[in-house]
Amino acid sequence: MISVAIDGPSGAGKSSLAKRLAKELGFIYVDTGAMYRAIGLYALRQGVDPASEQQVAQLLPQITIELRYENGAQRVILCGEDVSELIRQENVGMATSAVAAHPTVRSFLLELQRDMARKQNILMDGRDIGTVILPNATVKIFLTASAQARAERRLKELQQKGMETDFQTVLSDIEQRDYQDMNREIAPLKQAQDAVLVDTSNLDFEQSFETLRNLITSRI
Ligand code: DC
Repeated sequence: MISVAIDGPSGAGKSSLAKRLAKELGFIYVDTGAMYRAIGLYALRQGVDPASEQQVAQLLPQITIELRYENGAQRVILCGEDVSELIRQENVGMATSAVAAHPTVRSFLLELQRDMARKQNILMDGRDIGTVILPNATVKIFLTASAQARAERRLKELQQKGMETDFQTVLSDIEQRDYQDMNREIAPLKQAQDAVLVDTSNLDFEQSFETLRNLITSRI
């Protein structure tokens, strides 16, 4: 089986690029952030503190997460409910960054993710795919962009959705999320030694796509 691991911080364009690359290659796209987000949403709904490992761990036995594919698009099913849109809310993103720091949460998802890679050619994106989940991935990419560039893109996205916010708020959310993801004890966001670094700060979507496609096809 061929596996492509794409890791990097929020807002570097990972998921939109990964989705399109997977389609082009005919691989299954696995968005691991969506799986963590489902747990973040569940914790919020249950009214538990996302930062409390003990409280979140108690919820895990009740949680089932399934990824389904409809017309090539990934749907996230949490305990039988399609939460694909709900998990994209900003407050869910924040809670998710906290729950993703707990070792019990990470080991809960680790086997599920490895299992998906055993069965089919996949392109998986996340934070620890190249370092922890698939250390033998066929191709590893670390996709990044400056916090400024990521905040500008995110602001545009939010404004297009009609949400009111400002650049400073978006930037400080991104910086806080980066800090949490890079400084947690378990599986922090970092580039695998054998990953190729791609910085999209000065690349538009098409240029980023071409760069990644050339890189992947030259290695598989
Ligand atoms: O990629 P994203 O923004 O949907 O990820 C949501 C959160 O989940 C983010 O704070 C980092 C965390 N995450 C993680 O810790 N490990 C992964 N493999 C994927 C996401």
